[in-house]
Amino acid sequence: MNNNIESHLSEDRYFSPPAAFSQHARISSMEQYRELHAESINSPETFWAREAEELSWMEPWDKVLEWNAPDAQWFVNAKTNMSYNCLDRHLTSHRRNKAALIWEAESGETETITYAQLHAKVCQFANGLTDLGVQKGDRVLLYMPMIPKAIIAMLACTRIGAVHSIVFGGFSAEAIADRLEDSQAKVIITADGSWRRGKMISLKENVDAALEIYQNIEKVIVCRRTFQPIEMQAGRDMYWADANAGQSTKHDALPLDAEDPMFILYTSGSTGKPKGILHTTGGYMVGTYSTCKYIFDMNDQDVYWCTADIGWITGHSYITYGPLLNGVTQVIYEGAPNFPDFGRFWNIIEKHRVSIFYTAPTAIRAFIKAGDHLPNAHDLSSLRLLGTVGEPINPEAWMWYHQVIGGGRCPIVDTWWQTETGAVMLAPMPGATDIKPGTATMPFFGIDAAILDEDGKECAPNEGGRLVIRKPWPSMLRGIYGDPQRYRDTYWSDYDSYYTAGDGARRDEDGNFWIVGRLDDVLNVSGHRLGTAEIESSLVAHDAVAEAAVVGKPHDIKGQAVVAFAILKSDYTANEELEQALKKHVASTIGALARPDDIYLVPALPKTRSGKIMRRLLKEILATGSVSGNTTTLEDESTVQHLIDTVQHKTNAA
Ligand code: PRX
Repeated sequence: MNNNIESHLSEDRYFSPPAAFSQHARISSMEQYRELHAESINSPETFWAREAEELSWMEPWDKVLEWNAPDAQWFVNAKTNMSYNCLDRHLTSHRRNKAALIWEAESGETETITYAQLHAKVCQFANGLTDLGVQKGDRVLLYMPMIPKAIIAMLACTRIGAVHSIVFGGFSAEAIADRLEDSQAKVIITADGSWRRGKMISLKENVDAALEIYQNIEKVIVCRRTFQPIEMQAGRDMYWADANAGQSTKHDALPLDAEDPMFILYTSGSTGKPKGILHTTGGYMVGTYSTCKYIFDMNDQDVYWCTADIGWITGHSYITYGPLLNGVTQVIYEGAPNFPDFGRFWNIIEKHRVSIFYTAPTAIRAFIKAGDHLPNAHDLSSLRLLGTVGEPINPEAWMWYHQVIGGGRCPIVDTWWQTETGAVMLAPMPGATDIKPGTATMPFFGIDAAILDEDGKECAPNEGGRLVIRKPWPSMLRGIYGDPQRYRDTYWSDYDSYYTAGDGARRDEDGNFWIVGRLDDVLNVSGHRLGTAEIESSLVAHDAVAEAAVVGKPHDIKGQAVVAFAILKSDYTANEELEQALKKHVASTIGALARPDDIYLVPALPKTRSGKIMRRLLKEILATGSVSGNTTTLEDESTVQHLIDTVQHKTNAA
């Protein structure tokens, strides 16, 4: 039996970088990309040393790389400091009084902080943390809204060598307690609350509940944001203002070893407790710096905006660290994309003249559903480059993003990477790559990506297999916190010394990488392995569909049957005829094999708080009629009951 993942969807549209973009881009032709990529693979030490030399080091490295699979050391024995490189390095240049952060509150209020001001605030808080006894190596948990203080706290931690562990502000008290327990954190930095769609969300209250479970916390530092009533425990809790009071705005950044731990970020796998992904200092710094420079082609005139939250890896690498390392001006936004309506992002782009915009496919699909009139009512002419991350972008969503948001003139960088990889791994070079909608295209410099079959043989063009990385890269994870065995088992056990990402992918005849979905989600229909992404993309390409999720359901004959869940665009209504039309559409665009046995037209899909569809819940509902596992990572738990009822109703009717 053929165990490889099959691929049937073909995409022939190509978009070349506009000449005006290429002319000023760092990488302006495929020849230049190929030459540098070849150097970065054949002589990684030369390539990465050159990149690293653009940053500041307190002591040089003895060796660029020490690789003893699966343990990597980059910039061996070098000393540096991330916070110094994000801030101090710019203070002697024209960037000193340049805006580093333009913060937009959900209420519309804005605050601009220059590099010099940000530096002063970070130094002050670093002194405050030091006075509280926080030392190099101590773990500090952050549970914060999207406000400048969150970024200040991150930079203050890295300045003194404390290891931050950020928990997304939408997670529960139990999630905080689990992460406190696993990381043995000593200090928490939080806020009274945060604003979400005009409502106050309690943060401090959740921290208090978590501290009923985990009690080894010495200090809780609380920012005032919503001014809602909170309880402060004497001796343990203190206000941010008090932690800063009387502290100097000068602080010498601590020289840290390139391999000193910098942060832990928990990521949930499909099974087991969340994994504390550990990143270290020097390699992560070089990786985030370099990817921003080439993939976002950042320069001094740019106003960059990434819509992620600092609770996710995107918020670490492409809000706090990468952009500040590059000295760019960036917008950060506190609130929801649909507050007061789905025009908010376009309003922010117009207001701050954003030139580089980085968001997620899930948001793009929501904007498509909300209608073109919202972006069309705004001047988006400041945009020059668009990006996406987090999931495969369906070609039709890509086309919409390109035309309606980018006005047809902005390259789109579809960036494939993971919490574990630290920085982008696959992405176009915006000034060089001819892009087909829906593919993250080619490996970044230093990334030796390949697609292998189960025997470790490289797959032929368009044959699906497992995406692997065959060489270490600077921003790679250094382990799972406290669990070296799980690190080996999860990432390094499929093939000898290759990193396995857990994603299925194929490479087309031109060498572009297409992610076909998580390997855990792969369907097996009559012995054919199908990725979820293609069938979903086929559905989204139909005029009526805004969003789709595809899963397998046990089937006596086929093994698994294809079942689709789809959300319709607002001007379509669910009926039997449309369901039939959608089935036919999939069969005609992909093949009869992929034709869904059932289609459920639903108002919402179960998503994680970072916007990823939780296909395992859909699978479970279909197989058992209920959901037994943990649903605390769900964005909206009420969608589950609705889905259970819909499936039940259809089964009864049949
Ligand atoms: O399945 C891939 C998907 O998101 C996974 C990583 O998730 P996380 O660690 O939360 O990091 C998200 C932000 C980097 C990957 O294994 N993924 C991420 N980006 C893409 C993607 N799938 C397809 N195309 C992408 N551009």
